[in-house]
Amino acid sequence: MRNLNAENITDAVIEQFSGCKDERLKSVLNSLVSHLHAFLRDVEPTEQEWTDAIDFLTRTGQMCDDKRQEFILLSDTLGVTMLVDAINHQTSNPQITESTVLGPFYVADPPEAGQGDAIDWGVEGEPFFVEGRVLDDQNKPLANVVMDVWQSDSEGFYDVQKELDSASLRARFKTDEQGRFAFWTVTPSPYPIPTDGPVGKMLELTGRHPYRPAHVHFMLITEGYETLVTQIFAEHDPYLDSDAVFGVKDSLVRDYQLRTPGKAPDGRDMQTPYRYLKYDFGLKAS
Ligand SMILES: [Fe+2]
Repeated sequence: MRNLNAENITDAVIEQFSGCKDERLKSVLNSLVSHLHAFLRDVEPTEQEWTDAIDFLTRTGQMCDDKRQEFILLSDTLGVTMLVDAINHQTSNPQITESTVLGPFYVADPPEAGQGDAIDWGVEGEPFFVEGRVLDDQNKPLANVVMDVWQSDSEGFYDVQKELDSASLRARFKTDEQGRFAFWTVTPSPYPIPTDGPVGKMLELTGRHPYRPAHVHFMLITEGYETLVTQIFAEHDPYLDSDAVFGVKDSLVRDYQLRTPGKAPDGRDMQTPYRYLKYDFGLKAS
C-alpha cells in the first residue's frame, strides 16, 4: 500500500475495510468511500476549498446543542432528509398518511394535554381548532395513540427559539376510544428556518430563501404500527412550492378554514373569527 494516486487510492481504502465483520457497516463504508472519492475527482477542490469545507462542517457541529440542531437543518436543506423519508416510507395506499421531515424543533416528552385542551400557553394569535381521528388502513379507529403536536406561533417562532419558561404550542395527546383527538391552538405562520448559522450562510450564498410554508407537526406512536412523523400544511401558503426543506406533499395540504364568530365544532362560543382544521390520519401496520 504505497505510491497511491488518484486512480488507485479508492481501492486501497476499501481494502482496509475488508476485515470488517459487520457486513452492513462494511458495505456502507465501501459505498461512502467510492462516492466521496468520485465526488472529489469530479469537483477537484483546491486545498483551501477542502479546508473551508471541513471548517463548514466543524461550525455546523459547533452550532448544535440540546435546542439547536444545525446538522438536521443541513440534511433538510440539501434534500437528504426527504430522500431518506422517501426510501423508508413509500406507500401507494391512500388511506395511509404520508410522512415528511421531523425538522429541528421537536422536543421529546412534551407536556401532556387532554382532549379539547388549548396548548397556546403564554402566546397570542388567531384561535385555531384542530380535530380528527386516527385510523388504520381499514378505517378502524385506533384508541390510545400517542400524538405529539408542535408548531410555530403566529410570528413563526417555536417556543425553544423564544427562551420561554415552559413549553408552548407543543403537547402530547392520546386518542380516545373512537380514535379522536382535538385541541385549540393558534394559527401558525410561514417561517424562515434559522439563518444565523452555517446553513443560513449556504442559503444566502446560493440565493435561496429560508422559508417554510405554515404547518403543524405531528408524531403518532402506537404499538403494532409504524411511527408516523408528518406535517399538515396550510393551503394557499405562498411557500408551498418552494419549501426550504422540500417537505410538502399534496396529500398533506389542507384548508385551514376561516370561520366567523359563533359556536365552534366543540361547542365553544367564539366571539372572534377562528380557523378550523379537520384531518384523519391513517397509520400503517408494522
Ligand atoms: Fe416546523
